Amino acid sequence: MCGIFGYIGKRELKKTLLEGLKRLEYRGYDSAGIAIVNKDSIYLNKVAGKIDDLASKVNFNIPMYNTCGIAHTRWATHGAPTKRNAHPHVDCKGDIAIVHNGIIENYLELKVELLQKGHVFDSDTDSEVIAHLIEEYYAGDLEEAVRKAVQRLRGAYAICVISINEPDKMVAARNGSPLVVGLGDDESFAASDVTPMLRYTKRVIFIKDGEMVVIKRDSIALKTIEGEFVKPEIQQIDWDAAQAERGGYKYFMLKEIFEQPRVMKDTLYGRFSKDGNIEFPQLEDWKDYLRSLRRISIVACGTSYHAGLVSKYFIEEIAGIPVDVDVGSEYRYRYVLPDEESLVIAISQSGETADTLGSVRKINDKAKTLAISNVVGSTLERETDKVINVNAGPEIGVASTKAYTAQLMTMYLFGLYLAQLKDKIDIRDYSKELLKMNEYVEMILREDEKIKAIASKYNHYDNAMYIGRTYNYPSALEGALKLKEISYVNAIGYPAGELKHGPIALLNSNFPVVAINPNSRVYDKMLSNIQEIKARDAKVIALVTEGNDSLNSLCDDIIFIPNIKSVFSPIPIAVAEQLLAYYIADMRGIDVDKPRNLAKSVTVE
Ligand code: M6R
Repeated sequence: MCGIFGYIGKRELKKTLLEGLKRLEYRGYDSAGIAIVNKDSIYLNKVAGKIDDLASKVNFNIPMYNTCGIAHTRWATHGAPTKRNAHPHVDCKGDIAIVHNGIIENYLELKVELLQKGHVFDSDTDSEVIAHLIEEYYAGDLEEAVRKAVQRLRGAYAICVISINEPDKMVAARNGSPLVVGLGDDESFAASDVTPMLRYTKRVIFIKDGEMVVIKRDSIALKTIEGEFVKPEIQQIDWDAAQAERGGYKYFMLKEIFEQPRVMKDTLYGRFSKDGNIEFPQLEDWKDYLRSLRRISIVACGTSYHAGLVSKYFIEEIAGIPVDVDVGSEYRYRYVLPDEESLVIAISQSGETADTLGSVRKINDKAKTLAISNVVGSTLERETDKVINVNAGPEIGVASTKAYTAQLMTMYLFGLYLAQLKDKIDIRDYSKELLKMNEYVEMILREDEKIKAIASKYNHYDNAMYIGRTYNYPSALEGALKLKEISYVNAIGYPAGELKHGPIALLNSNFPVVAINPNSRVYDKMLSNIQEIKARDAKVIALVTEGNDSLNSLCDDIIFIPNIKSVFSPIPIAVAEQLLAYYIADMRGIDVDKPRNLAKSVTVE
């Protein structure tokens, strides 16, 4: 996720672009830049760092001769967060500048083609190919060149393009990443969302996938990328700036929950070859080592630790490699035996968690280390041997949501990759479900109102227990963590088989239980546990596979999850748990994005 902004009109350009960009900072903040159509060249200013760093480098005294410019705040996916990888990117001559939000899946093949034609690249990004493709097709008509270029792109994009040869316009296009055009008084805007334009205009057009738009200061022309005119639907926006940043959602957490279908797709980008095999280009030179791995140790904290636990079950089952999982604060102080045939995987959304970093530092070259992280360029990424990014985009809510499901998706892919290397299974049966995970997540999101109604029945309880077995024992831990951290309910997660070893003593009519029981080989075992709980008068909210109506009379409330392999059920189950926790916390009047005593990144022990 990145933020793009374009402006054409009467205002002082540098200031307008920087102010607009500042509104988009929540979308990414590892590097930033602006490009302005000047007298006879494009003025370009980029930095590695935040928008304030960029602003401090811009000389406002140099006058600009034109009224059109673009800006970008980056959340790195391809290429480190450096100045050369910051946007805008320009073509070989520096006549065309582009900003891009999204992931271009086929950028490598396009880059090879363009290199063969003599184009010179300046960055490691997927985005730069767009500038060179437009240059390749440019024959005096920017709109036509952009049209031809975007027809070659596979993946997700929202782009905004300017050219020194046509200073009176911006050309923008969208497929899979958000793009909004704002219509002002003798001025126009293009941006990832409405936040940078709200102070100037409330009249906006939400561009749809497959559309492109030529934007002038007093007019716009909207077409499909095939060139057919489209009648623009102008909408009046009544949100204030803070609401707009959250896309109209009450809290970032809810927005991030609803982003998960998109995240599921982004996490898969570039992971499958044309013949359906799983690819991790960064692990190419590790293939022999991974084939002969004897042990994996996973270290992580909080929600990332739960992603590690699910990974253990999956990797052991699918790839036959023993996996142990530790919370960072234990691993770093216990006696461990890393060696050359083992791999230490550190999972962390932020890549800055002190105990996870401490664990990796402890390895000190005794074993190889792999980071599974959401923040490109984080300390963890710099201190591990290899990195896989989960591509969830910036996560702002303190409660981790989309980063967790992206971690799960990444670890499923990694487990399948290990199995593929060891020729263990035909991965296609598994990958077809992963490729549809966005749809399964959407199914849960469509249950939003039902889950909200369940939350309204249970929000006054001060205790809750989550139980599950095998793959969904970690789901029980994660559901309980989500609820306790944002609602202050005393929620505990247990492996269901442990009930009789103590926790069942807690249960009575004031202690609701969330029982996670999708179709699986432990279904009947869980059923017995549910019966034991009901015999203690406790209320049961059951998560079961759609089509299973047999628990309707036994349980108090049911949430259906899609009919998928039980190994993958932790993803849709996590989404249902997130919604339940969110609504309970909101109904208890808590600031969901900023729960007491917590910070987004725990950078101290
Ligand atoms: O950035 P990390 O993934 O390393 O963070 C780990 C935990 O601090 C984090 O998951 C925390 O538990 C969240 N508040 C959970 O929602």
